[in-house]
Amino acid sequence: MHCTKKITDDLTWVGANDRRLAMFEGVYSVPNGVSYNSYLLNDEKTVLFDTVDKAVQHRFSENLAEALGGRALDYLVAQHMEPDHSAGILDLLVRYPDMTLVCNAKTLAFIRQFYDADIDARVHIVKEGDVLDTGKHTLHFIMAPMVHWPEVMVTYDSADKLLFSADAFGCFGALNGAIFADEVDFSKDYMDEARRYYANIAGKYGAQVQSLLKKTAALEINMICPLHGFVWRKNIQDILSKYLLWSGYAPEETGVMIAYASVYGNTENAAELLACRLRDRGAKTVMFDVSVIPASDIVAAAFKWSHLVFASTTYNAGIFVTMEALINDLAAHNIQNRTVAIIENGSWACASGGLIREKLGKCRNITFLDGSISIKSSLKAPQLSEIESMADALTGSFPNI
Ligand code: FEO
Repeated sequence: MHCTKKITDDLTWVGANDRRLAMFEGVYSVPNGVSYNSYLLNDEKTVLFDTVDKAVQHRFSENLAEALGGRALDYLVAQHMEPDHSAGILDLLVRYPDMTLVCNAKTLAFIRQFYDADIDARVHIVKEGDVLDTGKHTLHFIMAPMVHWPEVMVTYDSADKLLFSADAFGCFGALNGAIFADEVDFSKDYMDEARRYYANIAGKYGAQVQSLLKKTAALEINMICPLHGFVWRKNIQDILSKYLLWSGYAPEETGVMIAYASVYGNTENAAELLACRLRDRGAKTVMFDVSVIPASDIVAAAFKWSHLVFASTTYNAGIFVTMEALINDLAAHNIQNRTVAIIENGSWACASGGLIREKLGKCRNITFLDGSISIKSSLKAPQLSEIESMADALTGSFPNI
């Protein structure tokens, strides 16, 4: 049975939720599911914005047929070719033989890469600034390369002032009956997932996201319709301001994120002691055991907090495996503008601290605090003063405490 949601008089959500997917893109856990959003505009012409992942293809097809109400589909706008949004394209070309696929040249190249189909006669290529009149509505195409794939574009409906934003402004989590961000307590229940989505999906491409934000700043926007998560119709500034911070790699909060890797609990003990001394000084702290918490959560936290502490044992003369994966992930996502302190541990020879510093040192504008702590197997009483000094150095570099 179809399950659609009305967005405006002319626009219907025809997407679907997947709560059985374990790992989005094979790497990001989605314990609360994920939505694949697709939107049908019923104007003089009918226009579908993107399709869905193959996992929810059946529900999507039912939804689309119901929302069309027996009309033909005139246009499919493909804004992003990643298969979680493009899996339905070939099926729609068969199901709706008069449908025209609207996309840019790069998208067409990707379609040829992903799928075997001779579709050139069915394609209308658009570029930056092109428009498509569908009757009451006029669609303006805005290129958004590397947000987060090369072919990405977004679409602005100047009649209702809607921005179809592709993956931008998306969020992990199934919709659970709601469709608008103001129907849920977004700040409390979803902002962490929006940040995790942004940091891991688009975090590497801050400059490109900023360039899209500059283009959209010139538009009057009543709603943002992303390809995952909720539609924004109220307090749009809430998510826009977060995107400005995240894409500029500016911390949201002053405080210390401590990520630690500990084999026998001694590195963890040092991390705990540091957290206690930081709290004594009034600092906010969060802690992650990198062997337990997925890297995507910690990458997201690193985008939030101003100060980062990495505490790692040495393993096979290198950084402990899970910590090394995290550090590589942070560097891959372009983490920058952070103050970093390091605690290393090693029973034979401490190597992890220097190696962490070397990897993060390649990121932009990382300030390493003097006074890294080096532990031989376990922290001893004389080293408590080093913990105190690190807490002083961290809080001393806070802007306002
Ligand atoms: Fe939701 Fe980049 O695909």
